[in-house]
Amino acid sequence: MPRVSALEADNSDPCLQVTQIPASVTAPSLAEDAQAGLLTAPRSLPPKYLYDAVGAQLFEDITQTPEYYPTRSELALLEAHGDDILAASGASQIIELGSGSSRKTRALLAKAAAGTAYWPFDVSEQMLVDSARELRADFPQIPVHALVGDYTAGLAGVAQVLPASGRRLVLFLGGTMGNFEPAEAAAFMQALRPVLRPGDSLLLGVDRHKDSAVLEAAYNDAAGVTAAFNLNVLRVLNRELDANFDVAAFTHRSVYDAEAMQIEMHLIAKQAQVVRLGELDTHIDLAAGEVIRTEVSRKFDQPRLEALLAEAGLGLQQLWTTPEPHAYSLALAQVI
Ligand code: SAH
Ligand code: TRP
Repeated sequence: MPRVSALEADNSDPCLQVTQIPASVTAPSLAEDAQAGLLTAPRSLPPKYLYDAVGAQLFEDITQTPEYYPTRSELALLEAHGDDILAASGASQIIELGSGSSRKTRALLAKAAAGTAYWPFDVSEQMLVDSARELRADFPQIPVHALVGDYTAGLAGVAQVLPASGRRLVLFLGGTMGNFEPAEAAAFMQALRPVLRPGDSLLLGVDRHKDSAVLEAAYNDAAGVTAAFNLNVLRVLNRELDANFDVAAFTHRSVYDAEAMQIEMHLIAKQAQVVRLGELDTHIDLAAGEVIRTEVSRKFDQPRLEALLAEAGLGLQQLWTTPEPHAYSLALAQVI
């Protein structure tokens, strides 16, 4: 059963609760993920390790860069269509997966009817709890139930803590769905089924396929914030796996594969190097120019979007899209 976190104890606000959501399917540990992904080429890591406390803050900084339009496009859509979204969903429970700072969600919460509760779910506990406190201060009428956990393993736990009554609106914003590989996205959509019952809705934010130059700039801003965010995962490995990556010996690159419709984030070894992975009792031998893939960010056209929704038994109800060159979509879908 989900357990209430110790963080709740020092909290005097009865309308702010923090609950740890345990993994209901076995999530691999960082050591296992590193073992599976880093030891042989093509080398890769799952994206969740980018979001330690430092990474979560760097992601927030990315959203403020002039090149990273998805946050601004999505906020514009939430501001313009928030009333329609809330009315169409009829929800009293708003659940957000990978909520981060919940900054854009404020546009919805500001319009939510009395009696609405907010359930942000994130793996980055510090950012989650800080944001929950700020939301309580700014929206005193909305109770906040912060859920700490991994959404690739904890959706069954989320279904257990939600009240049985009341319509649900699940938010999955920021293009985060695009960070799953197709098979992972399908598994995630399947896992959503117990959370979404007939009449419940999903609001999905997805970035659109577009000109490579616009996309590559969004994932490689001139000030180097994205590079710092990507490189930070090496510090996570150093700390958590007793590794000795020399962060200065890598560079960040983002490339758009227009055919696959996905941006890939790479860390590239500037020179040949041997890196210790103490926790795994091994080392990796990197050649000059060798690549570690840290993230994909898939972009969507409408057929790809509808195919994805169908995996969760969802039908597209409404689709709002910002204009080119910064096209980005919010899709409202309902259980069929
Ligand atoms: N929704 C926000 C943040 C997007 S960044 C926005 O649109 O701006 C992705 C967020 O998902 C981060 O806050 C990160 O901590 C969280 N996250 C990444 N992987 C996760 C996982 N496996 N389980 C739960 N949260 C995760
Ligand atoms: N969900 C974000 C996206 O796909 C994550 C992200 C933005 C990201 N910039 C990044 C991930 C740079 C890794 C590196 O747009």
